[in-house]
Amino acid sequence: MAKLHPELENKEFWYKDITLIPNRLPDFERDRVDLTTYFTKRLKLKTPFVSSPMDTVTEGEMAILMALLGGIGVIHYNFLTIDEQIEEAEKVKRFEAGFVFNPVVLSPQNTVKDVYDINDKYGFFSVPITEDGTLNSKLSGIVTHRDIRYRKDMETELKEVMTPREKLIVAKKLETVDKNDLQAANEILRKNNLDTLMIVDKDDKVVALVADSDIRKNEQFPLATKDENKQLRTFIAAESRFKIAKERIGKGYDAGLDGVIIDASVAFKEQLEIAKYCKENFPNLEIVLGNVDSAEMVEKILKEGSQHCDALKVGIGPGAACMTQQELGTGRAQASAVWECGEVVKKLEPKYGFIPIIADGGIKIPDIIGQDVAKPGDITKALALGAQTAMMGSLLAGLDESPGEKEFDYEENRMVKKYRGMGSTEAIEKRGALRYGIEKMKIRIPEGKVIKVPYRGSGYDFIPQLIAGVKQSLQKQGFKNIKELQEEADIRPI
Ligand code: XMP
Repeated sequence: MAKLHPELENKEFWYKDITLIPNRLPDFERDRVDLTTYFTKRLKLKTPFVSSPMDTVTEGEMAILMALLGGIGVIHYNFLTIDEQIEEAEKVKRFEAGFVFNPVVLSPQNTVKDVYDINDKYGFFSVPITEDGTLNSKLSGIVTHRDIRYRKDMETELKEVMTPREKLIVAKKLETVDKNDLQAANEILRKNNLDTLMIVDKDDKVVALVADSDIRKNEQFPLATKDENKQLRTFIAAESRFKIAKERIGKGYDAGLDGVIIDASVAFKEQLEIAKYCKENFPNLEIVLGNVDSAEMVEKILKEGSQHCDALKVGIGPGAACMTQQELGTGRAQASAVWECGEVVKKLEPKYGFIPIIADGGIKIPDIIGQDVAKPGDITKALALGAQTAMMGSLLAGLDESPGEKEFDYEENRMVKKYRGMGSTEAIEKRGALRYGIEKMKIRIPEGKVIKVPYRGSGYDFIPQLIAGVKQSLQKQGFKNIKELQEEADIRPI
């Protein structure tokens, strides 16, 4: 266990109140540091970063970024319908895959415009064409970007532009999918210089496809968080109300989801019931409960439902857009909460097994635009205090991959993006009311606010910097991995 300075014991402290003292003599470079960690009991990540389920932070695009770079994104549920949320999760599951099952298909009577619409929605152009536009009919051809890029008439039917079935090289299900042999499919793809390879069954119906761009992406992102089928992993958030969460989780499961965060600003008893239902009906889904911030709360949850809980999320009101502490006098300093919850989880490990902690919020507090810099050291502190991963909202909301447009802020003379608490009046007005358990109440007390965060450009540049920053801070202290950091960090007051 890390060493906590006696002056910090039984005190409230934030990340800014502590520092980590290097007392080893490092003899290795930053690149030797391995940040592999557990997000949940069974799910490993190579990067200990999680994006918050907030409607100005995580939809499909952010979840793809996070998963490609070794972390994971949790898709928010502040949509008008459950299906809209699930569509975002599907974007992630379809994005980079080995075998893409259930590919989107069209019929020969669909038009060039329909292909552009698919690209807008899912980000790809290659579409198998089947006789009736469903997977239940025979393959008729394929349309790729090459076939439509110079077409001006959007109403041209695809039968005019597609490469017809007789000219296609396809792979057999029996020889690829049935043997789970992705390599065999990749070889056919490469040997024939194809962009997309379709896999058909004995009736010539499409069962899956493999894309060349996916193979190249696999090579470009060695840290990527993927499932057994080489599809990116993603979680969704669901409300702590049984009836609606049940429908959401069922649909998410059908879409191939990896897990669910049962969300509430303060953990709610009904979560245990939902978690139990999930484990009984969808044993493959990983379930995260929260938020908690004290040893007592952790103990209560583990006592009643440790077998249904795969990770605990810690943090009540420390986030940049939070007002739970100011408005309701509820919550505490985040670093001490992570320490206390981490300690109790360790103490109870012999009884309940290993339960990872997610340090949620407060990684940095952007009060004055311009002075708001990324602080990888806060992430290292969260890990040293006992968290396995850090969940971030405001730090990621300024990236290109978060929902919403960047705009110029004349007061601050710089580009910004909007970031809003899910308990803000603005977010509650959409659907967020459920998260705060106040959907039936007429009087609403906002628990969050709307702020601006600096525009940070592409996450594909920003996240690698953050990873390097965390690695560098471990290296300075002489730790090669998170386990060593957690066992030996020397945590002192500033
Ligand atoms: P950061 O500091 O990374 O925090 O921006 C993100 C976390 O803040 C939580 N969150 C809220 N907490 N009122 C709150 O008290 C809110 O309106 C609110 N919205 C989000 C959430 O846990 C998120 O991951």
